[in-house]
Amino acid sequence: MDDRILDEGKQQHEEHLEMSLRPEYLNQYIGQQTLKNNLNVFIEAARIREEALDHVILHGPPGLGKTTLSNIIANELGVNIRTTSGPAIERAGDLAAILSSLEMGDVLFIDEIHRLPRAVEEILYSAMEDFFLDVVIGKGEEARSIRIDLPPFTLVGATTRFGSLSAPLRDRFGVQLRLEYYDVDSLVTIVNRTADIFEVAIDDDSAMELARRSRGTPRIANRLLRRVRDFSIVKSEPSITLDTTNHALKVLEVDPSGLDPIDHKIMNTILNTYGGGPVGLETVAVSIGEEVVTLLDVYEPYLIQQGFLERTPRGRKATAKSYDYFNGKCQMDIFRNEE
Ligand code: ADE
Repeated sequence: MDDRILDEGKQQHEEHLEMSLRPEYLNQYIGQQTLKNNLNVFIEAARIREEALDHVILHGPPGLGKTTLSNIIANELGVNIRTTSGPAIERAGDLAAILSSLEMGDVLFIDEIHRLPRAVEEILYSAMEDFFLDVVIGKGEEARSIRIDLPPFTLVGATTRFGSLSAPLRDRFGVQLRLEYYDVDSLVTIVNRTADIFEVAIDDDSAMELARRSRGTPRIANRLLRRVRDFSIVKSEPSITLDTTNHALKVLEVDPSGLDPIDHKIMNTILNTYGGGPVGLETVAVSIGEEVVTLLDVYEPYLIQQGFLERTPRGRKATAKSYDYFNGKCQMDIFRNEE
């Protein structure tokens, strides 16, 4: 998965690149208008009341800006942010150490919060609700529980799997915000903004083409822009042209709808091997050699959102749109036959 150009997940070298592209305040953040409007009100109210913002859960597919938003929340509130992730907190003591270092009003960002170990999650409940920790010290007969008071803080959790959060955790987030795939206009604006930061000129029709083929995901739009820029530089173009963009996207195996060979493999399996479905998710995963969780989090949401795939109680089904679009073709044909 690491070298998949359309992978919504962060690739290792991208961490610092993303940081330099990240908007710092809400008014620089493009798209997600409803979410921004709501968040703006909650932040403003917390500021006026001079209280910590209520706990926030950000959920939605990867690559849409959950980490960026958590930093914006801290910046807008004018507080510090501590960043960690569910799998990084192995023991209750790890969480206790982080929580007791927070100052009044600080933001604690826990990425992939659905992956917190159960024992850690349980001590989070009282921390979130009443700002204290019950920590057990010692073992056996010597064991004692001590109470540690915490300053009021804001927990910002991010997850691609809202449905797999336990009810007690989910209910403790007063603010629940869902990130949606970006529309093409927002992605055009993001591509142009990134091109400005990279100091590279790009034709309007190229920006539009990149936006259309980025699966509604800024991280992918920015990654494709970097690759297309390479092709353009090699050709010594003064500005990235549509020709170069189309050529680069073809070489990168991104089809006109932004689907890549793995999406084609998934749809080909359902359409051709299983007669359009319904077929169980595990069967699809085994057929194409990917993990079930990867299919669930990364590939399926976009195929469903674009209307190629349907989830039914009996399994995954191809839609009429996908019969039209894929036309029964083997997954790689589309990339070879376009020339
Ligand atoms: N870069 C990546 N995502 C962005 C967004 N939503 N707004 C502005 N710049 C971005």
